[in-house]
Amino acid sequence: MERSFSGKIAVVTGAASGIGYTVAHHLAERGARIVGVDLNDRVNELVTDLPGSGHHGIVKNLTDPAAAGQAIAETVSALGAPHILVNSAGLALLNPAVDVPADRWQLTLDVNLSGTFFMAQAAGRVMLEAGYGRIINLASQAAVVGLDQHAAYAASKAAVIGLTHVLSLEWARQGVTVNAVSPTVVETPLGKAAWAGEKGTKAKSEIPVGRFARPEEVAALIAFLAGDDAAMITGSNYLIDGGFTTI
Ligand SMILES: NC(=O)c1ccc[n+]([C@@H]2O[C@H](COP(=O)([O-])OP(=O)(O)OC[C@H]3O[C@@H](n4cnc5c(N)ncnc54)[C@H](O)[C@@H]3O)[C@@H](O)[C@H]2O)c1
Repeated sequence: MERSFSGKIAVVTGAASGIGYTVAHHLAERGARIVGVDLNDRVNELVTDLPGSGHHGIVKNLTDPAAAGQAIAETVSALGAPHILVNSAGLALLNPAVDVPADRWQLTLDVNLSGTFFMAQAAGRVMLEAGYGRIINLASQAAVVGLDQHAAYAASKAAVIGLTHVLSLEWARQGVTVNAVSPTVVETPLGKAAWAGEKGTKAKSEIPVGRFARPEEVAALIAFLAGDDAAMITGSNYLIDGGFTTI
């Protein structure tokens, strides 16, 4: 396998599960050293077991605005300045709009939007100093089309795309690219919980390719955006949706 990420340090939030874990695995297989940040206290064990060596796990709750700065400071002292940040920590709390409780609305914004912003800000400071960086934010198809019961989730993910535009503009001249990736339903714990049963069968049938995305497919797109070859791509939102949002 081509070791195209040799010498690179990649911080991956949400690395204990789903897309975050799969991205961490994909980059580690190709030579990156991974810093996994997650609420789940198994993150250290999961990340240190990835292919290669020199990985590091950090248990943090990203609803705390100070957590991002602490995670990046720990990254720099344990491994060095990060080259790549993948913001995959997130949650999907679904309710009809009329029933969304204030605490679920706030938690969604705190994790999906504020956690993403403060991680990008903290990593961005180090990357700007180094003159190199690749930041990839997980948004969602829910940011670009209306989905039943997704009011809080859609608001948080549409805001991630807006944030991606601003960061990409402000940081482009200093070698730091910032892009968003917007999958359809992905077969992860989050995707399976939100789209179980009949609802999922119907959703699959409405996707032109006829199935949900696999975490490895999302990881491959993220790895492309995280690579040196993607230097000219910034401020974009990549849909990976089997054609769902364009029909
Ligand atoms: N799975 C899908 O269908 C799908 C579709 C589109 C977008 N996404 C987005 O992709 C990202 C990853 O989703 P996934 O399917 O891998 O989910 P997942 O539930 O499998 O993993 C999410 C990870 O984030 C961590 N996390 C949650 N809250 C946290 C917090 N406060 N602080 C630190 N870590 C926290 C969890 O512990 C978990 O390990 C999310 O941002 C999600 O919104 C997922």
